[in-house]
Amino acid sequence: MSHTERTLYSPFQLGPITLANRMVMAPLTRNRAEPGNVPGPMTIEYYAQRASVGLIIAEATQVSAQAQGYIATPGLHTPEQIAGWKKVTDEVHARGGKIFVQLWHTGRMSHTAFQPGEKAPVAPSAVRANAKTYIPGAGYVDTSEPRALELSEIAGIVDDFRTAARHAIEAGFDGVEIHGAHGYLIDAFLRDGSNKRTDAYGGSIENRARFLVEVMTAVVGEIGADRTGIRLSPVSPVNDSSESQPQPLFEHVVRELEKLHPVYIHVVEGFTGGPRDNAPFDYAALRKLYSGVWMVNNGYDKAMAEAAVAGGHADLVSFGRLMITNPDLPRRFKENAPLNELFKDAPLYGGVGPHGYIDYPALPA
Ligand SMILES: Cc1cc2nc3c(=O)[nH]c(=O)nc-3n(C[C@H](O)[C@H](O)[C@H](O)COP(=O)(O)O)c2cc1C
Repeated sequence: MSHTERTLYSPFQLGPITLANRMVMAPLTRNRAEPGNVPGPMTIEYYAQRASVGLIIAEATQVSAQAQGYIATPGLHTPEQIAGWKKVTDEVHARGGKIFVQLWHTGRMSHTAFQPGEKAPVAPSAVRANAKTYIPGAGYVDTSEPRALELSEIAGIVDDFRTAARHAIEAGFDGVEIHGAHGYLIDAFLRDGSNKRTDAYGGSIENRARFLVEVMTAVVGEIGADRTGIRLSPVSPVNDSSESQPQPLFEHVVRELEKLHPVYIHVVEGFTGGPRDNAPFDYAALRKLYSGVWMVNNGYDKAMAEAAVAGGHADLVSFGRLMITNPDLPRRFKENAPLNELFKDAPLYGGVGPHGYIDYPALPA
């Protein structure tokens, strides 16, 4: 399998697995998990419908009960959740697809309503995110003021990532993507807007990156570097994320990742779901620091994605919203077929029944 055959539609060797093409389904939270935060039958169908993409990255999934920040997001910390995901991965594999899962701890992007014992969510520092989450009955509410993690608690959260990665492999996933983006716990440690610590996990760039490096070291040690990816969003302000010096921060992070050599680095370019040029950032300089697989995301259409792969800007391109609306996106791109529009009467997050989830049509066979 040649990496030099650079088209979006040609197979790609990702560590031990061969992807049918270089198109990836980005992780997409849909708030459809069933009681116990277990993926249900519609989730099996949703992912199976999308198995023609080279790689699916299943939605952000909690590593522990404390990691939850939103309603009806799935987990990988109970036997029922592992069994639920096994049905998803079996069906995706039966249809010839490959599937990773994104592992997250939401950190301060949570609410006491989701926390065991209704305690405060945990974060690097007691700095509330100016952001909202949805609580049934109450609607969209402010995230809760978090409490700063004790130094002695951090190793336990690293262990939660390690255990969830093992559970992911038990559940049949081909690998995991560590969620290092979008202001969730790992990203909140990275950034000076949310990390005000004065111990070994705060202050210098090296210290702020320590938690990320420890999580990646643990997960790579547990399931192998060739089954571990990571997502970063250097200048995305989503979830009240801020950082005064993103370029040196993320260059340090990628230098550290080069030593661990995960199977890919997945970079959200710009403002997630918004402008790609919201803040200056030299992605080419970042990429030069990594000798492994480079995946890009944010606002890519067919022409941009083909050019990114052909021109060597990226090895893989992930698609979020287009994969929600077009289960057969690779075929539509290849055949220059029209794309489905987002249903106006169905939510992206949550909802009941199949509408907006598993009823976006594929092209006729
Ligand atoms: C409904 C929805 C849910 C999302 N959930 C996640 C998620 O769980 N994890 C994540 O890293 N990004 C998440 N994102 C961001 C997408 O992965 C992606 O970065 C974003 O949609 C931009 O890519 P696109 O222009 O191809 O849609 C979500 C986006 C949307 C629209």
